[in-house]
Amino acid sequence: MSAPQLLNLSGLSTQLLGRPTYHFEEVDSTQDMLKKMSGGVQQGTVVFADHQHKGRGRNGHIWFSLPEPQIYFSVLLAPKLSPPKFPMINIAAGLAVIEALEVCGIKDPKIKWPNDVYIQQKKAAGILSELLTSDVKERPFIILGIGINVSANLEDFPNELRDRATALSLTGCTCDRLELLCKVLNALESWFLMLEHGNFKLIQSEFSKKWLFHEKQIVVNMDSNRSLQGKAMGIDEDGALLLQKSSSEIARVFSGEVTLQT
Ligand code: BTN
Repeated sequence: MSAPQLLNLSGLSTQLLGRPTYHFEEVDSTQDMLKKMSGGVQQGTVVFADHQHKGRGRNGHIWFSLPEPQIYFSVLLAPKLSPPKFPMINIAAGLAVIEALEVCGIKDPKIKWPNDVYIQQKKAAGILSELLTSDVKERPFIILGIGINVSANLEDFPNELRDRATALSLTGCTCDRLELLCKVLNALESWFLMLEHGNFKLIQSEFSKKWLFHEKQIVVNMDSNRSLQGKAMGIDEDGALLLQKSSSEIARVFSGEVTLQT
């Protein structure tokens, strides 16, 4: 693995996030690298990499990591939140990516619950949050990782991803990768602080506006044996998906893969 350099990000307007940002040419996963460093660094520290050999996604999936120039980073957070609210960090992160993409001129990016970012019905960014347990009775740490496909041709993706994945360049966006990184970190800090201040209602309403499946009939596959169908109503204050079943009863769903009902 390469030695890190401190990255000086002139577009950063944060107090905490990205201060400092360590830049690696290559890592296995920015999540694992930050985890290794986490004993000696403070909240807000970012590990950013040009290339990942073993990028990780949610639910044990791999994150297919295209070669440079993409965005792969992980940030260390010590949220002042009760653990049931932790899923809201994923929602806040999705909103931050959406906001940054909009500032870069991308039209109508959407969130697929809990936090995939879609442009024109294809996934352009993914978010993974992992809890760091520690023996000390301090606040738990979360390592939040974000991957954004910045520049690629369709042929750069493996066959099986071509109808599901996209990159910003394929939508005509020519934004600079480091400028976009700054915009994501700036937006992430403000959404994160909003969350810590208990402003859940604003996050819920913003999520509804940006939700790919808002008020659509959906199927949530919780695991291979369990699925639920219903109307996508929004999220509650803990980030759980609210699904209105045919009986009109509202179910709270904490995890699962969501698709449109056909
Ligand atoms: C998903 O959509 O399943 C989540 C993908 C998260 C990918 C990012 S890239 C930076 C960070 N490092 C990783 O290994 N994963 C996250």
